[in-house]
Amino acid sequence: MKRTLSVPGIAYGGDYNPEQWPEEVWAEDMRLMREAGVNLVSVGIFSWALLEPSEGVYDFSRLDKILDLLHDNGIAADLATPTAAPPAWFFRAHPEALPADRDGRTLSYGSRQTFCPSSPAYRQAALRIAGALAGRYADHPAVRMWHVHNEYGCHNAACYCDTSAAAFRRWLRDRYGDDLAALNHAWGTAFWSQWYYDWEEVLPPRATGAVSNPTHQLDWRRFCSDELLSLYTAERDVLRAAAPTVPATTNFMVNFSFDALDYWRWAPELDLVSNDHYLRSTDPEPQIDIALSGDLTRSLAHGPWLLMEHSTGAVNWQPVNRAKSPGQLRRDALAHVARGADGIAYFQWRQSKAGAEQWHSAMVPHAGTDSRIWQDVVRLGADLKALAEVRGSTGTAEVAIVWEWDARWALELPSQPSGELRYLDLVRAWYEPLWRSGVAVDFVRPDADLTGYRLVLAPNLYLVDEAGAANLTSYAAGGGTLAVGFHSGAVDENCHARLAGYPGAFREVLGVRSDEPFPLLPGEPVALSGAVPDGATGSLWSERLRLAGAEAVASYADGPLAGVPAVTRLAHGTGSAWYLATLPDPVTLAALLDRVREEAGVAPVRTAPPGVEVARRRGPEADYLFVIDHTGQGAEVPVAEGSFELLTGKETSGTVTVAPGDVAVVREPRGQ
Ligand code: GAL
Ligand code: ZN
Repeated sequence: MKRTLSVPGIAYGGDYNPEQWPEEVWAEDMRLMREAGVNLVSVGIFSWALLEPSEGVYDFSRLDKILDLLHDNGIAADLATPTAAPPAWFFRAHPEALPADRDGRTLSYGSRQTFCPSSPAYRQAALRIAGALAGRYADHPAVRMWHVHNEYGCHNAACYCDTSAAAFRRWLRDRYGDDLAALNHAWGTAFWSQWYYDWEEVLPPRATGAVSNPTHQLDWRRFCSDELLSLYTAERDVLRAAAPTVPATTNFMVNFSFDALDYWRWAPELDLVSNDHYLRSTDPEPQIDIALSGDLTRSLAHGPWLLMEHSTGAVNWQPVNRAKSPGQLRRDALAHVARGADGIAYFQWRQSKAGAEQWHSAMVPHAGTDSRIWQDVVRLGADLKALAEVRGSTGTAEVAIVWEWDARWALELPSQPSGELRYLDLVRAWYEPLWRSGVAVDFVRPDADLTGYRLVLAPNLYLVDEAGAANLTSYAAGGGTLAVGFHSGAVDENCHARLAGYPGAFREVLGVRSDEPFPLLPGEPVALSGAVPDGATGSLWSERLRLAGAEAVASYADGPLAGVPAVTRLAHGTGSAWYLATLPDPVTLAALLDRVREEAGVAPVRTAPPGVEVARRRGPEADYLFVIDHTGQGAEVPVAEGSFELLTGKETSGTVTVAPGDVAVVREPRGQ
C-alpha cells in the first residue's frame, strides 16, 4: 500500500516544541506559522517525560491542545514517537537499559539518546508509548505522518553491554546458520589465537590492547545498524496497525560524519524517506555537500523525499558555529528542493531559551520577528508556495556513483595500508567536478540495475561482494563506461583479501594488475605525466601497477614508481573501463572525469558559469530547471523558448537571468 503525505504543495515547517513555552506563546506561534506559510510541523519528538509522567500513566492534555490548535490553523502534524529520550523514571526502574561504551563504562541519563538499543525493557517501553499515541491520535485530523523516533543511532549507535553482546550473538547465529565454524572461517580467527569454541565466547568488539579482528568489527557495524532498524520497524508496525493509511518516516542523516546505519537497508522500510542536513562551518563550499547528500537521499528514496531538519543559521555543536551569509538560507533550502526535496523543515520552530540547544538557530530566533532570519523564513514560505507544482517531480541522471556503507565501514577499519583514506572524502572528490559541470548524478548500490546509465563511477569500493563485482564487470563488458578508484575490489564481504594481485575483483575488467601498494604520506604528492594537465600530481595512494590489456593514460613522473602507470583505460566495445590508481589533484581529476564523461556521451543538465549550480527535476508534463548563483556575480543561463520562472511568476524565453546570490526555478516545456 502506498502511503503518501497529504499536505498540499511543498511542505514547510520544522520541529515544534511548544512544551518549552507557556500557552500564551502558542497563539503567537500559530499566527507566525500562518504568516510564514508553514503547513507541516513535527511535534512531540522529545516529549516522553511529559507525556508519560510515570510508567503507564499518560498525560495527553497538552498534546491534545497542540494538535487541535494546529488543525484549527490548517497546519498538519508529523507526530513523533518520543522514544529517542526515555525519562529519568524509566532508567531508575531499569538501570540495565543504560548503554555501555567500548571501555565498559555505563553512561548516565540526563541527556538524550542514551539507552541500550538491545534492551528488552527499552523496547517494551518504547512500543507502549508508541501504542498509546497511536491509539489516541490515529484518527486526529491534524496527524498526517508519523515521525518515528529521531535520528536513530545519532548518539547511541553501538552499545557494548552484556545484553547487546547476547543480541549480537543471536544476530551472528542467524548470519552464520548457527555454525560457529562458519563464523571462525569468515572472521579468520585462526590468526592471533582468536578461534571460538563456544558462542558464549563471542563478544562485541570491546576495548582491547591491540587491534581487534576486522571482520568482527565489520559484522558488529552491520549488527548495530540492523538492531536499530528492528526498533524502527517495531514502532512503525504499532503505528501502522492503528493508522493503516498514515505514512511513517524517520529522519536519516546521510550527512558528512554520520555513518552508523546502512540506509540502503533502511530506506525500503519507510513510507517516505526524510533526511537531516547541517553545514560544516569549515567546508568552503557547503553547497556541494547539500547537493551530494540530496542526490544520495533521492537515490535512497527512488524519488522525492523530505528535508526534515536543517538550520536557518548557525548550529551549536561545532567548535565555531558559522551563521549564514545574506541569501544563503534561501539558496540552501532551494538547493535541497532542486535535488528532489518535496518538503523543507528546520530544527526548530522557536529558538529555545533554556536547554542544551539554546544557541542553535531556529525559524523564530531569540531576537523575535525583528530579525533577518525571520524575514528570510517568511520569504522562503512564499517561495515554496510558488513551487507547489514541482512536487512529485524528480531528478534523472545518466551518471551513477556507486555508494555502499559496507565498503565505507571496511575501508575505515584500522590497520589499512593507509589510515588517511576517508570514504566520503573520496566520493566528494569525484562528485565535485560533476557538480561544477552541472552533471546530474544518482547513487547506486554495487548490484543495482545499471542499464539506464551511460557512466558508472566507483570512487572507492574497497569491499565488494561477488554479485556487486560481477554486476559492475558485466556493465563495462557490455559497453558501459566504468571508472574505478584505487584500493577497490581488494576484499570480499568478509574482508578477506582477494589474491593474485590488485585491484582484486576489478583486475580483469580494468586490464591491470598491481603487486604492491605504495601509499603516499600527507603533503608528499607525486608528479604525473601523460594525458593530464601540466603540473598534475597524485596524492594519498600509488601502487606498482602493470598493464594487462589496458593503456596508460598517465604515469608517475617521479618517486619510487617513476614510469609506472597511474591512470589506465581499457576499451570494451563501445565502452571503456578506467582505473585511477591515485587521487589526482582537483584540476587533473576534473580533466580526467570530463574526458571519461565525454567518451560516455554524458552532457550537463545545462551549461552555466562556474560556481552557478544547475539541477533539474522532471515532472509528468514539464521540466523544472533550478539555477542557483553561489558566486555572488549573478548569471544568465539558456532556457527553452516558452519557459516560465516560478519564483517571480514571469515568462522567460531563451534565457533566464539570475541576480547575484539569487535562485531561479524555470518550468520548461517538455522536449526541449
Ligand atoms: C539533530 C537533532 C535535532 C537537533 C539538531 C541540531 O541531530 O535531530 O534534535 O539536535 O541536530 O542541529
Ligand atoms: Zn546494550
